Amino acid sequence: MEQRERSRTKWITYATLLISFWTCAKGQFRYSVNEEVQEGTVVGNIAKDLGLDKATLKERGVRIVYGSTEPPFTVNQHDGFLFVNRKIDREEICDRSKVCVIDLKTVLQNPLEIHHVSVEILDVNDHAPSFPENKSTMVISESALPGAKFLLKNAHDADSGLLSVQQYKLSPNEHFRLEVKDRGEDRKTPNLVLEKSLDRESVKSHVLLLTALDGGKPAKSGNMTIIVNVSDVNDNPPVFSQESYSVFLKENSPIGTTVIQINATDLDEGSNGEVVYSFGKDVDPRVRDVFNLNPVTGIIYVAGALDFEETARLEIDIEASDKGAVAMKTDKTIIIIIIDVNDNEPEIEVTSFSHALPEDSKPGTTVALISVTDSDSGLNGKVICSINKDLPFLLTPSLQKNMYSLVTKHMLDREQQSQYNIIIFAKDAGEPSLSSEKNIEIIISDVNDNRPVFSQSPYSLYIPENNSPGEKIFS
Ligand SMILES: *[C@@H]1O[C@H](CO)[C@@H](O)[C@H](O)[C@H]1NC(C)=O
Ligand SMILES: *[C@@H]1O[C@H](CO)[C@@H](O)[C@H](O)[C@H]1NC(C)=O
Ligand SMILES: *[C@@H]1O[C@H](CO)[C@@H](O)[C@H](O)[C@H]1NC(C)=O
Ligand SMILES: *[C@@H]1O[C@H](CO)[C@@H](O)[C@H](O)[C@H]1NC(C)=O
Repeated sequence: MEQRERSRTKWITYATLLISFWTCAKGQFRYSVNEEVQEGTVVGNIAKDLGLDKATLKERGVRIVYGSTEPPFTVNQHDGFLFVNRKIDREEICDRSKVCVIDLKTVLQNPLEIHHVSVEILDVNDHAPSFPENKSTMVISESALPGAKFLLKNAHDADSGLLSVQQYKLSPNEHFRLEVKDRGEDRKTPNLVLEKSLDRESVKSHVLLLTALDGGKPAKSGNMTIIVNVSDVNDNPPVFSQESYSVFLKENSPIGTTVIQINATDLDEGSNGEVVYSFGKDVDPRVRDVFNLNPVTGIIYVAGALDFEETARLEIDIEASDKGAVAMKTDKTIIIIIIDVNDNEPEIEVTSFSHALPEDSKPGTTVALISVTDSDSGLNGKVICSINKDLPFLLTPSLQKNMYSLVTKHMLDREQQSQYNIIIFAKDAGEPSLSSEKNIEIIISDVNDNRPVFSQSPYSLYIPENNSPGEKIFS
């Protein structure tokens, strides 16, 4: 119990004015007692302080008057001790005023005597700081710059002075620190200060614990969980799932064939993370005719006829773009390699041809030059030429690729066969193979290679005698 001596001031009250001529002593006595002490706790001794004889206390009916309610203190009529009558809550009586004093009147009768007794109720740390809510959610944009401040709700503590909220603490977090503004009169305002930029794509939500501490010993605390939701900013471009895309495509792929599905993802949220695909700006219009790109799925389809012989390799620039207010874009080149299919038959061309071949031509005489071409590549374009083996002609490959010469195998005889119809057959090595054929007509021209021949040799004939001169004998 702490006794506080204050300067003795004479009090003039309504009661003392009325009855001043009766009272013989008007003093002010001041006691102090902690709030919340147990009933029966002694505060002081009235008899001693007023200089009254203990014996007269009961006689003169000493009592405590405190408004119309039951007083918080009573006096023992035998020994004059003033003691606590009921539990006293300082905050209930005085709220947050710095000094809390209860004024009592000690009344004695015969003659009526009133003494003022003040009891100061001393604060004890019977309240903990508390926040208006246990949990508070706030949203901070990931574009917020370090140094940005965010006001937090303050905690209240019903105790006064040093026993009220004295400090705030924040759970350790690399992104935030706490700044407390002291507004005087026990009003301290906590502010959350951004220390390091937020990145929604790495941490969507931060959970912080704000602790308010009072100045008691030991200090009481109150906590509030602060949830910081990080709101999105379009700060990530779409990223393709593959470093490079290449695909093989048969040249005879029908319209509607899926060529490839490309896929790009964007870490941002909502429309900032929605990806659409399109052809790059510089894409050849012919590519746009032959391929379709689904902007949503990223599937590239065949939309027209492909021709390996025309284009064997295509590079298509694709753009993935998000739907942010200021869209972010990423380019990628798709390589399409067209695979040849055996769709071209060999073409036979007779480049030189002597129409009529003298029958006495030496073996090996060139009759015609034949060239074959096949637009396909590889085996599909590898051509083998042949003619019927029974003919007196040979097809000999020349040094030049795909060139043949048609030569005579041996001497010919117009008188035996005056004309040949040669079928040149060309076949590629594709699977299945394609072939073509061409007819060449060769006419054998006559040479004077035959002596007149008598039908009989020798001729033997009979001539009748007595012929007239000049008469035919024989033919
Ligand atoms: C705050 O939390 C405490 C302890 O978890 C709980 O008893 C109390 O009801 C909560 N108050 C509110 C307003 O949620
Ligand atoms: C507030 O949080 C701190 C730190 O976790 C803890 O020591 C303290 O007991 C908490 N106070 C209350 C009233 O829950
Ligand atoms: C914060 O984020 C959580 C989880 O994503 C969500 O449930 C809550 O509604 C958000 N709060 C606010 C205020 O945005
Ligand atoms: C794209 O890739 C992402 C991440 O790998 C995946 O979740 C998503 O399903 C893919 N989309 C398609 C259409 O394949």
